[in-house]
Amino acid sequence: MQKFITLAQIDEIVNAIKKKISIQPMIGMILGSGLNGLADSVQNPVFISYSDLPNFPTSTVHGHVGRFVIGELEGKPVIVMQGRIHYYEGYTMGEVTLPVRVMHRLGVHSMFVTNAAGGVNADFVPGDVMLITDQLNLMGMSGLNPLMGPNLDEIGPRFPDMSQPYDRDYCNLARSVARQAGLTLREGVYAGLSGPSFESPADLRFLRLAGADAVGMSTVPEVIIARHGGMRVLGLSGVSNKANLDGSTITTHEEVIEAGKVITPKVEAIVRGVLRGM
Ligand code: HPA
Repeated sequence: MQKFITLAQIDEIVNAIKKKISIQPMIGMILGSGLNGLADSVQNPVFISYSDLPNFPTSTVHGHVGRFVIGELEGKPVIVMQGRIHYYEGYTMGEVTLPVRVMHRLGVHSMFVTNAAGGVNADFVPGDVMLITDQLNLMGMSGLNPLMGPNLDEIGPRFPDMSQPYDRDYCNLARSVARQAGLTLREGVYAGLSGPSFESPADLRFLRLAGADAVGMSTVPEVIIARHGGMRVLGLSGVSNKANLDGSTITTHEEVIEAGKVITPKVEAIVRGVLRGM
């Protein structure tokens, strides 16, 4: 594969998907670790494995299935990524965000991103859901911005604005859906790190000082690519563990997957409510 993703590569994948589907998906969804269950609710689903698409990265992480599910949710045409691609798997930033490019070129105008995250905010407890209101692009700040390389002018500008990564109307909709459903919805800033090691206590103290409420290993590059293409974004983090600022507990992937079972129904309720209200 070339160093940077080209429009021709994106469109080759788009055409392969179009041959297999009869609907026009409008809303894209990326499901995080342990949150794959939401894809099972998609109606009239068409499944397309990442491995059946040309030059498409495959998801290697336990808890990530590795396919698109295309169909309807709450009557809206959706394309769901059941399993995402992470930078720590060894892919380039272009490959990590290729699925977002593909969804955009398929005609998707809104992207719902979900993830499992560590709770940095002292008030957060495992099982909480956090509405992402802003993000800390720590990967990008250290040189890993997914927009590096030749700009795809057909999609968006060289220097895209990032003043509103998460759509304010969608945030308001999510708040009112949660209120009506009697769900506690936390809010805050998601900090994206590359992983795969979890954070040290000093990392976490730094993140808290920097204004992070949750920390994870995804989402931020996808949101940058989505915004580059002008897509509107809704972001939800499932808090799977409390950040361990004093080094007294350990964090494991198993606990992340386990917490997903409590978080999935809450995320699903909010996603469904937002879809109905769109
Ligand atoms: N840190 C980073 N990523 C995560 C965490 C965490 O504590 N929990 C789930 N994903």
